[in-house]
Amino acid sequence: MSQFDQEDKITTDIQKEHARYIKPLGDWRRTHTCNQLTLSDDGSEVCLMGWAQYRRDHGGLIFVDLRDRDGLTQIVFSPEIAPEAHRDAHILRSEYVLAIKGRVRPRPEGMANPNLHTGEIEVVVLEWKLLNTAKTPPFLVEDRTDCAESVRLQYRYIDLRRPMMARNLRLRHKIVQACRDYLNTLDFLEVETPYLTKSTPEGARDFLVPSRMFPGEFYALPQSPQQFKQMLMMSGVDRYYQVARCFRDEDLRADRQPEFTQVDIEMSFVDEAQVQSMAEGLIAKVFHDALGVEVELPLRRMTYDEAMRDYGSDKPDTRFGLKLKDVTSIVRGSAFKLFSTAKLVKAMRVPGGASMTRKEIDEHTDFVRGFGAQGLAWIKIHENEWQSPIAKFLSPAEREGIARECGLEVGDIVFFQAGEPGLVNNALGSLRVRLGNMLGLIEPGTWNLLWVTDFPLFEYSEEEKRWVACHHPFTAAQDESYGIMLSDPEKARARAYDMVLNGNEIGGGSIRIHNPADQTRMFEGLGFTEESARERFGYFLQALDYGTPPHGGIAFGLDRIVMLLAGASSIRDVIAFPKNQKASCLLTEAPSPVDAKQLRELGIRLREKPAPAAQTKE
Ligand code: AMO
Repeated sequence: MSQFDQEDKITTDIQKEHARYIKPLGDWRRTHTCNQLTLSDDGSEVCLMGWAQYRRDHGGLIFVDLRDRDGLTQIVFSPEIAPEAHRDAHILRSEYVLAIKGRVRPRPEGMANPNLHTGEIEVVVLEWKLLNTAKTPPFLVEDRTDCAESVRLQYRYIDLRRPMMARNLRLRHKIVQACRDYLNTLDFLEVETPYLTKSTPEGARDFLVPSRMFPGEFYALPQSPQQFKQMLMMSGVDRYYQVARCFRDEDLRADRQPEFTQVDIEMSFVDEAQVQSMAEGLIAKVFHDALGVEVELPLRRMTYDEAMRDYGSDKPDTRFGLKLKDVTSIVRGSAFKLFSTAKLVKAMRVPGGASMTRKEIDEHTDFVRGFGAQGLAWIKIHENEWQSPIAKFLSPAEREGIARECGLEVGDIVFFQAGEPGLVNNALGSLRVRLGNMLGLIEPGTWNLLWVTDFPLFEYSEEEKRWVACHHPFTAAQDESYGIMLSDPEKARARAYDMVLNGNEIGGGSIRIHNPADQTRMFEGLGFTEESARERFGYFLQALDYGTPPHGGIAFGLDRIVMLLAGASSIRDVIAFPKNQKASCLLTEAPSPVDAKQLRELGIRLREKPAPAAQTKE
């Protein structure tokens, strides 16, 4: 028997022994939550219910912190005041569930806890009931925990009792309500769209659901309600929203989940300025209601080109400087081949960075390698020399050009990336964010919201060897881009916009194509033949033919917004029952094998033997 099993058995035995104390709730009713009582309730008779957080025995008195989702109240069992109630209180253990009736009194002089709303009072128990026992939990129900996330996810119902998690759930609720309030006031209709829908493989990988009625055929779970919300505009709904679950089978990161929630919005007879001003109002209301923070409107706008040029990212974190500089033309003729032959060479000056150690630079180099970079060139600017493995390759004119472009000063370090533009921007842009955080350049508590506009219409997919839609295939091109869409796809610009908060993409949308000829041309640009476009999107192309109003919209990533406003580092901390990095649910152990009978009904035979059930989901 493992130590855990042994402990588990002991607590199970104690639990069984204590079960005889359990009483039914009967007609007891709560009068307050565990976060309500203050000195103004002194002398009141109250009834509280919750979980025992700690029990402390002190010179005859037994103290228990009683906890519910709102907070803690100290309760006291006193042998003098209520001997009967005191008699059995020693059985109370962490996470036992109880109900008490008692009298509020001030805590003795010097015993107040200023960190608790209820910290100036305690409740003397006159009568109580044990409502349930509990095994010893695998971790303590408190904010500070060094427990592995996998254990927290496995016992999520205990994890969600931790005050921080309860606060996150409440914040999420507040934010959703703020969105609903705002959109209802503007006369938007909340409409639900299907979860079982058609697979239209454009974007991420679909999650498929086999059909029993049509063996061999599949539904797909929606990656977003995009086509349905557009069809709602065709239906005359005019202003739609939905707090919609979306499903994408993609690689997971701290800000991505396979199922996540969007506040999805669509409007008819509008241009981008109208959608953006509606969306700004919404985010301002969210900040106001959830945090009491006033957002200054209108938000700053930055074009995609400007964002990539200065920050190497389409979701720039503009809370700090460290802007990137394009030095390609300065080093075009350099003796340093890596620079002279590269499509793009960018530099990033870190003021005062010359004191960085070799070890630190090596760590930054390893970091950019993670983005596919071969290395990280650097120069330290000292009083009399440029210290660098590459300095010797640079002519005086090149040095002068770099110094001028970057505004170099003695004591700085400057980092370089050279190569394919995508890689250069990604590697140096990511290093910029890393340094911004590591060097403490971000003032805590600053909120930085902006729009990134004028996105490219297409991006080239190396994997598929074709142009794919940068946003999605229903996004309209800017007027001047229609003519060049097929001949010069990389130059075409979309009527698309993203909202960025502290370097995170929290929302994205666009004005849509509303005329069938333009939509057909877009599909052509994406490499679909007329036939294959009809096969995949026929219903949608047909709908476009029946009087489609101009329309556009946006979808906010709810989980990301809550994560940022809660100050959490992962969206898993703001989702009640999230999946882990392997897209499995450690609580229910989904995904899991199914019965042979279920498969037979669906007409499915597994080609390969399923991996052993023991395969770890962590
Ligand atoms: P998009 O794909 O940009 O647009 O998604 C909108 C927002 O949803 C959030 N998001 C995610 N959040 C958590 N996990 C994920 N895997 C994930 N993927 C996206 C992001 C993103 O900004 N139909 C369009 C919207 C439109 O055009 O109106 C769409 O889905 O915050």
